[in-house]
Amino acid sequence: MSARPLTDAPMVDLDQPQDAYSYVKQLREQSPIARTPMGIVLALRHRHLELVTSDATRQLETETKVMQGITSGPIWDITTSGMLFANGDTHRRRRTPVAKTFAFKLMDAMRPKAADLAAELVNDRLGKGPFDFVDEFAAQIPARIIADILGTPRSDLPIFMQWIADTAASIGFIELDKREQIEASLVAFNAYVGDLLNDRRRAPRGDFISHYVDETRDAGELNEAEIRTQVLGLILAGSDTTRGSLCMTLATLLKHPDQWRAFCADPDGLKKGVVAEGLRYQPIVSGIPRVAVQDMDIDGYRIPAGTPIAVSLLSALRDPDVYANPETFDITRTDHPRWHPIFGGGAHRCVGEALAKAEMEETLATIARLAPNTTLIGEVPKLQPGAIRQVTAMQVAFAA
Ligand code: HEM
Repeated sequence: MSARPLTDAPMVDLDQPQDAYSYVKQLREQSPIARTPMGIVLALRHRHLELVTSDATRQLETETKVMQGITSGPIWDITTSGMLFANGDTHRRRRTPVAKTFAFKLMDAMRPKAADLAAELVNDRLGKGPFDFVDEFAAQIPARIIADILGTPRSDLPIFMQWIADTAASIGFIELDKREQIEASLVAFNAYVGDLLNDRRRAPRGDFISHYVDETRDAGELNEAEIRTQVLGLILAGSDTTRGSLCMTLATLLKHPDQWRAFCADPDGLKKGVVAEGLRYQPIVSGIPRVAVQDMDIDGYRIPAGTPIAVSLLSALRDPDVYANPETFDITRTDHPRWHPIFGGGAHRCVGEALAKAEMEETLATIARLAPNTTLIGEVPKLQPGAIRQVTAMQVAFAA
């Protein structure tokens, strides 16, 4: 049977009023792929994750920025000198020094730090009523840990966090009215990272930046902008992702009191299952983008070379072919694949996976241990549409 044209695939209705998970479920039951008005193919099945590592696709490069008319300036520079939106040798050269320095052992060693930091933040707020969990707690964990890894002084934390808040949005589609503010902060943040690198070149300390500087010397061929952007990229890629995932996992646990109580009874035994399930049930990254480099078929649909494709994690992570009762939040489920799809796959698989898991597992276990009577106040937070889905407001009251 000859392949069907892409125009036969259902068109995604971006204004649909249902919740995102019911909508993708309905789409998935109708067809294995869908298409968006911007011409992106949405691949909806878990098995489509193969497309992420296939030779028939490549990573996006500057496409989304060009679509938005951004072809120069600081956002363009960070996009074109980072590892995330690069392919082949360019990607390898940029990633290798980071991957060597940001090794699993170093990240796993951050567990006690994450637990101590979480305990400090919980104890300061214990029994004191509702507070803004997103900014006062969840944003603090990745920012303070990465600042610690980089060896930035504590007194720089407020401005460092402000830059993170301003510039994290430079990764996906930009809200164009914020472009000026994002770019001004990117310039300042870049200069700060440049100073950090120069400082360690003058006086190595045996810390992450000193090792990274050594590795970039060995790797050769990296220019100064590339060296700086990889550090900036680590900070940005690890911030909104970890912050939002912490919020949604805690909120979902608190909406499932039986599972929250079970977690409080055995935080260390259940922390891995809690985080894996939180990341599956409320994926902070909506999909993994790629571009077809040759004509190809996906489940009988003809996809011409050059077509942008996104493997929808919203859909794949609830695919009944892989997960039993996929609409059910279950911290004890045993059907998670060995490599959690939320961290992507292949050459671009998340460099910060071990750190993100260490931060989330230790933070949530600490809250369960110190504040088992925690309550969610007011609205349940949601993840808004976007490449990295931003979390809405969340108020919590910690109680022992
Ligand atoms: C829950 C937290 C996180 C999630 C869900 C997540 C998810 C992802 C995904 C899906 C990718 C691959 C994107 C693609 O292939 O197009 C990725 C790449 C990346 N992540 Fe993470 N991430 C998280 C935390 C972190 C942290 C904590 C760091 C570092 C501190 C980090 C640094 C990076 C970097 C540098 C890349 C680019 C890798 C490359 O292109 O080779 N991420 N992440």
